[in-house]
Amino acid sequence: DPTGAKPLDFPIPANVHAQTVVSVKHYTDRLFSFRITRPQSLRFRSGEFVMIGLPNAEKPVFRAYSIASPNWDEELEFFSIKVPDGPLTSHLQKIEPGDIVLMRPKATGTLVIDALTLAKRLVMISTGTGIAPFASLLRDPDTYEKFDQLILTHTCRDTAELRYGRELFAQLADDPLIGELTHGRVRLYNSTTREASGRMGRITALIESGSFYTDLGIDKLDPATDRIMICGSMHMLRDVRALAEGLGFVEGSLSNPGSFLVERAFVG
Ligand code: A2P
Repeated sequence: DPTGAKPLDFPIPANVHAQTVVSVKHYTDRLFSFRITRPQSLRFRSGEFVMIGLPNAEKPVFRAYSIASPNWDEELEFFSIKVPDGPLTSHLQKIEPGDIVLMRPKATGTLVIDALTLAKRLVMISTGTGIAPFASLLRDPDTYEKFDQLILTHTCRDTAELRYGRELFAQLADDPLIGELTHGRVRLYNSTTREASGRMGRITALIESGSFYTDLGIDKLDPATDRIMICGSMHMLRDVRALAEGLGFVEGSLSNPGSFLVERAFVG
């Protein structure tokens, strides 16, 4: 093939974009990130997800993936779990630059800033790959236009799994487009639950014990001043949602903006 592209065993299904893998980064044996080319026609709001698949079957398996890159980026970034028997991720984890990834053309999702009413502070609560939509929002100037203060919480089993979020924050300050906007306004609050580290515990426990407030030196989460976005596993969502509702937060949507939003971190 004169283009250097690898031959495909199966045709690209109709109405699906075939994009090229630009780079892949493995963090642990459970987590990796990858970047692909962006279809010219794709429009999305930072925080939304798309359906991703591989051209390895007549009818490819598609899974929802939050776009981790901001909407101004020329490429699309994703942060994925590797499930050993996962119908998609067991194959996706083997992709290399030059490979083809399939993408359905529509982006959608609930974690968009327009679904929140105005407030001083946005608290983004994530576990594991649930950090992905927030990686997008934290790199979008519109987020800084709407909220004065931004806090991202990221809880994982061990320290190695926190690296994606740490690198994101390290890059924010130097980002030519939004670096200046972020100064003194963004904070990363991370913890581990299974490996000993400087801060341990689930985010629910850290908030309930008050450690979250004393560690950050902030007032209690309050619908008068704060907005909350939540992304993680089903159980995590259930517990953090209950916590937010207990504090008086009300779930919002684009048609009826509120004080908190919830999205499942998708696992395949
Ligand atoms: P734990 O180790 O106590 O289960 P996973 O990798 O399994 O998706 O988990 C990511 C992180 O989310 C882990 O630190 C895990 O803690 C935490 N977690 C799991 N369930 C909940 C929950 N119901 N509420 C808050 N955090 C949770």
